[in-house]
Amino acid sequence: MCGIVGYIGHRNAYPVVIKGLKRLEYRGYDSAGVALLNGGLKVHKKKGKVADLEEATLGKNLDGNVGIGHTRWATHGEPSDRNSHPHVSNNGELAMIHNGIIENYASIKQELINNGYQFHSDTDTEVLLNFIEDIKINNQCTLEEALRIALRRIVGAYCILLIDQNDPETIIAARKGSPLVIGIGKGEHFLASDASPIIEYTKEVVYVNDYEIAIVKADELILKNLGNEKQTPFITKLDMELAHIEKGGYDHFMLKEIFEQPQTIYDCLRGRLLPEHDEIVMRGIDNHIDSFLKASRIVMVGCGTSWHAALIAEYIFEELCRIPVEVEYASEFRYRNPVINEGDVIIAISQSGETADTLVALESAKEKGAFIFGVVNAVGSSIARLSHAGAYTHAGPEIGVASTKAFTGQLAALTMMALKIGYKKGTLNQERYTQLVRELYAVPEKVKEILTDTSHIKKIAEKYASASDFLFLGRGYNFPVALEGALKLKEISYIHAEGYPAAEMKHGPIALVEETLPVVFVATHDSYYEKIVSNVQEIKARKGKVIAVATEGDQQISHMADDVMFVPACDEIIAPLLSVIPLQLLSYYAGVAKELDVDKPRNLAKSVTVE
Ligand code: M6R
Repeated sequence: MCGIVGYIGHRNAYPVVIKGLKRLEYRGYDSAGVALLNGGLKVHKKKGKVADLEEATLGKNLDGNVGIGHTRWATHGEPSDRNSHPHVSNNGELAMIHNGIIENYASIKQELINNGYQFHSDTDTEVLLNFIEDIKINNQCTLEEALRIALRRIVGAYCILLIDQNDPETIIAARKGSPLVIGIGKGEHFLASDASPIIEYTKEVVYVNDYEIAIVKADELILKNLGNEKQTPFITKLDMELAHIEKGGYDHFMLKEIFEQPQTIYDCLRGRLLPEHDEIVMRGIDNHIDSFLKASRIVMVGCGTSWHAALIAEYIFEELCRIPVEVEYASEFRYRNPVINEGDVIIAISQSGETADTLVALESAKEKGAFIFGVVNAVGSSIARLSHAGAYTHAGPEIGVASTKAFTGQLAALTMMALKIGYKKGTLNQERYTQLVRELYAVPEKVKEILTDTSHIKKIAEKYASASDFLFLGRGYNFPVALEGALKLKEISYIHAEGYPAAEMKHGPIALVEETLPVVFVATHDSYYEKIVSNVQEIKARKGKVIAVATEGDQQISHMADDVMFVPACDEIIAPLLSVIPLQLLSYYAGVAKELDVDKPRNLAKSVTVE
């Protein structure tokens, strides 16, 4: 989704802004632009990549210590130079960039047209900008005051940066529902949609809250609410290194992130899972254990890969804690007026912590009295802050658009939570608890084993990369893993893929099976094993090609399948943490074989900040 960068201070703003936009490229975008204050307002924008913008600005005067830049992911109006941000107001004095959607822009636009305004783009952003200008002129007020009035009138979500050629010492920013981080330097400030453009300059940041306006000067940061009352900026220290957001010798971020998993899963367990004491320490759970013990149901909400993590957690929580769990797509949950009772526990799962659908679902559940527990990767993100309590997944920044290490981080955190709650509740006996604590502790080493040699997975991917469709099948804990495998393959290789519970195959999808259809079975040794072996036979009988994820040493599956990817033996509750790894690699190598941009697949955004 759109990326926002701003700089004000003693440096030349243009290189800082351009570098920042490149750091945000992973979010997905289709055009880019910058505005600089340099004895007047200079705006450059271009459809395409940041590199295209750089090329278009070669030889131009790019001086100036104040700059704002934007990567746009089109919502209102096609990707084009004219729809790119920054937009300039009708009198040519103001420039603005915006991430989000102004829902009531059409009526405001009509009002402005009636007042003689002209529009040069199809965007809602240009409407908001001219609305601010109109208020400023009519009320003869400051830009800050005009912005405040405008924001009270608009409906929707925004993170905006605004500059005025008459005030070359200020950037004004505001947010509601779309993230904004401000980095505090010495005599300089950095503004961005997330911390990645800021980290190389400073580790001290302020996360701006919804309904706050920031007045940012080189050596001053003032935060106010929409009622013009000053707010105290809360400075947070970033726990992130530059190396975390660079490729470190790997061809792609996705590959780097897949290979980081032994470490990231370990980081998630570290200090929490203490096998030597048979203990799990999770402060978010410890402090709110009664909410979980008394819960008559748990509702888990998320989108995409995070929704798949919730599906696996549903099986684990019901088995270990005997609490009914419902798993909801955040977007559907929000809009179908769900029944939420006081005392319900909502577990929100999100890598970015900024997914608009999840955020909005939580806001309404919170209003209805639910207890919100966030399982989030991005520290300080909106969902983390909205939750009553939570557990960070500690996977570190995930740059590849396809979620990999964040998914296994979610599974590790959710499994620990279920173990802890089940044990406290008495639905999980000591012996099984101890066994599962040890099994979970062994996961990083087992993932390392899978990653020791991935050349056979690469060969399998290359063999099937020209297929037009794939089926992914699994049962029990491995059924959501099949869904995740299908999603990964679609995202990265653009091959159409469907995931199903293996038994559902007979109720329809089996009609698709023929010699050219690869069917991936997630068939590790578990209590569903015999059943899934029968399903494999059903596919083989119809000449489908079977690729299996199986437990090391499994001769039976090896003989039946055309290709096998092995994972180490483990308890079935832990299995998804291992069985998903070969599927991540399968889709990665298929995408590479098709020479696709695996880190930035077409049409996708890393952080989906619009509903
Ligand atoms: O940041 P979130 O976990 O809330 O994101 C949810 C989905 O948008 C995300 O998982 C998406 O499906 C990924 N592209 C999956 O690889």
